[in-house]
Amino acid sequence: MTKIILDLDMGIDDALALAYALGSPELELIGITATYGNVLVQDGVRNDLALLELFGRPDIPVFVGESHALAKDGFEVLPISEFIHGSNGIGDVTVPDAAACCQKQSAVDFLIDSVAKYGDDLVIVPTGAMTNIATAMRRSPEFAERAHIVFMGGALAVPGNVNACVEANISQDPEAADIMVRHGKDVTMIGLDVTLQTLLTYEETRKWREYGTPAGQLLADATDYYIKAYETTAPELGGCGLHDPLAVGVAIDPTLVTLLPINLKVDLEGPTRGRTIGDENRMGESATTRVAVAVDAPRFLTEFMARVGKVAAGL
Ligand code: BDR
Ligand code: CA
Repeated sequence: MTKIILDLDMGIDDALALAYALGSPELELIGITATYGNVLVQDGVRNDLALLELFGRPDIPVFVGESHALAKDGFEVLPISEFIHGSNGIGDVTVPDAAACCQKQSAVDFLIDSVAKYGDDLVIVPTGAMTNIATAMRRSPEFAERAHIVFMGGALAVPGNVNACVEANISQDPEAADIMVRHGKDVTMIGLDVTLQTLLTYEETRKWREYGTPAGQLLADATDYYIKAYETTAPELGGCGLHDPLAVGVAIDPTLVTLLPINLKVDLEGPTRGRTIGDENRMGESATTRVAVAVDAPRFLTEFMARVGKVAAGL
């Protein structure tokens, strides 16, 4: 079993990524570190705890992460994030607060300690703003050296979803994402190049609802909210993008995607601020980052439904 930490900005596809991880026998989820993006970090923590309880795993610890971007003093949820994920991050579906509380240790300290403790047996999957990861790298060169990271974010050969060249998770904190891709030694990017090819429709969510469980109901209702938002923002797709779950899928099985080794950077200045692109200053060096450029979408969807289906059925 591979140990995994999910660094989530608990929105709807983050919830699907959590369910995917919990339904995967290859993975041991050792903790969730909360970040911001789809929601404020404190709302992310609440959702993490509530969904862990709903999914029958209240034993998994949740750690509070950084609350805003490295170059900013604060953070407010963007109207577009609220439109896509609902004002509570989970499609305005009501889930009771969990009995469990978050941990006293910070997300950054937990990330650093876990990499020191587990090394190659651990993979970290960030699916929101990358501020926790960059802060851990700044504090601990050992973390940057040894962490295995598969992140959802960026767009290499396709347009962004914030503007023509910028993806949402990178846009939350471009400086943090740049630190992560330039200082990490094993970083895999699962960006819009592949995640917009893995789509879910009402046909699949109906199956979760039919289990008649609270978990199945939540997953179906929240995802229907997300699909409905996509009908407005990207009607040409015919479903919602399974962004964050694909990163978990690749953490388990990299053969789901085709990986291009390329040293990345994030543009920090000018009109392309937030763009993920090849680093012209490291072209000759061996690549520390890989970008997924193709995906076996049918195989991923089969895996996704089998694993999330277990959680929807009540584990
Ligand atoms: C990413 O942005 C967030 O809104 C989603 O949860 C996903 O992580 C997609 O661009
Ligand atoms: Ca996310």
